[in-house]
Amino acid sequence: MKLVQLLLVCLLAYRVSGYAVFAHFMVTNSENYTLADWEEDISLALDASIDAFALNMAYEDSTNDKALPLAFEAAANVEGDFGLFFSFDYSGNGAWPKAVVAEMILEYSSYSAYYLHNSKPFVSTFEGPANAEDWKTIKEETDCFFAALEVGGGGIVDALFSWAAWPWGPRDMDTYTDASYLQYLNESGQALPYMMPVSPWFYTNLPGYEKNWLWRGDHIWHDRWLEAWYIRPEFIEIISWNDYGESHYIGPLRDNAMAAFEIGEAAYNYVTGMPHDGWRDLLPYVADTYKDDIATIATETLVAWYRLQPVAACGTGGTSANTASELQLEFTPAEVLTDMIFFSALLADTADVSVTVGGVSIDATWRNIPNEKGPQTGLYHGQAAFGSNTGEVVVTVSRDGSTIAQVVGEAISTSCTDGLANYNAWVGSAKASTAVNAVTPALLEDQVCVNGTGPNNFAGLCGFACTYGYCPLLVFFIFLLNFDLEQYH
Ligand SMILES: *[C@@H]1O[C@H](CO)[C@@H](O)[C@H](O)[C@H]1NC(C)=O
Ligand SMILES: *[C@@H]1O[C@H](CO)[C@@H](O)[C@H](O)[C@H]1NC(C)=O
Repeated sequence: MKLVQLLLVCLLAYRVSGYAVFAHFMVTNSENYTLADWEEDISLALDASIDAFALNMAYEDSTNDKALPLAFEAAANVEGDFGLFFSFDYSGNGAWPKAVVAEMILEYSSYSAYYLHNSKPFVSTFEGPANAEDWKTIKEETDCFFAALEVGGGGIVDALFSWAAWPWGPRDMDTYTDASYLQYLNESGQALPYMMPVSPWFYTNLPGYEKNWLWRGDHIWHDRWLEAWYIRPEFIEIISWNDYGESHYIGPLRDNAMAAFEIGEAAYNYVTGMPHDGWRDLLPYVADTYKDDIATIATETLVAWYRLQPVAACGTGGTSANTASELQLEFTPAEVLTDMIFFSALLADTADVSVTVGGVSIDATWRNIPNEKGPQTGLYHGQAAFGSNTGEVVVTVSRDGSTIAQVVGEAISTSCTDGLANYNAWVGSAKASTAVNAVTPALLEDQVCVNGTGPNNFAGLCGFACTYGYCPLLVFFIFLLNFDLEQYH
């Protein structure tokens, strides 16, 4: 076989098994969804290069029975290849009986939209370590591919899923927990896949659920995707599509899906008027880079996000940063959050960024730029500290003095609903009026294993990941090249 053919065959074989992006979907919030609502959510997810929804269901939630037929019908109706799989939540209403789980998998895995991995129905769980043994039977009966959040008994688990998507205290997000999973998986000797969590934010204040804390978001939606590129796990799960109560939704706001604030006895709904749709505008690029090692910027895009009040302006309402409920040392929000406007942009080449708040120019800088020779095409990210400035926020990217894209955002103010800070983020986005169709070079050739331009040294990370076989393509090609040279020369 010729070298090129060999490379192609192996590359295709390699790609078939790999790389998918899922989004965690709270089925309970779909109580009032019509078929059209499901179709819309699925279309938006497809547009964002998401491959499947992980349907989170609590046992005996009456919404499950109503939602599943609609969801599977919608997935079949929408043009494109979109999957759905079950994520059995053992914490919501307690443990799922194993017979019910097996029956549901058998019933729904026959639908064309049920997501399969290596021809097996993909299934995950949330919590439920006490029921690890159940999965022996469930797997025997359904032949499912089981991605577990916790480590079960030998041979039951097919992939491991971490829920540790947020940083500790005032730190930027790092990959220490991911690394511990990778190490565990390596040492288990079975080369099991890893499902890496990626989340844009976290704030919850729902006394009815005894939940009141935040984890630092700030730069995370940018940083975490870079980490995902370097680790390149088999699967990524975005947390979440529609968990409004925890403020990490990237799906659309739906007025008919806000039960969490009532059931959770929230002081007020901290989500309405706080769209996160703009975060999805970065997804085709960051997800395709992760999946395909190459991505196209069809149109230059700017996304900006920030909290609407300076951290000191309003009361905390008892919200801590970090949470003792997860055995963490707690901080005050002011110790952890920065009063900044964060922005990311997909650009064909270098550009200038400027920010005004209430008409006053504030210092805005790029913190990360693509690491490339030649045109610097790719993902840019930066911030502007707003200090005591209030008023309408305008973020502009321009090149040679002409505007490429401009986000005109919600005003920052010192007025507080019921005296309380809203730690959720407002997100806006804008696209350039002309197409560019810029293709970024393959990540693994040009961007991996160099020092990052961000706060983390990605050489260290990549060096680590490489030892665990997680910068695999490059190593794989070198192996093939050597193999070919030995055979034929
Ligand atoms: C992975 O595990 C094998 C044993 O299963 C061990 O020899 C190797 O050193 C491990 N790799 C790393 C990077 O720890
Ligand atoms: C569905 O609508 C009802 C009636 O408006 C509302 O009480 C309920 O909270 C809604 N469900 C969800 C999940 O938001």
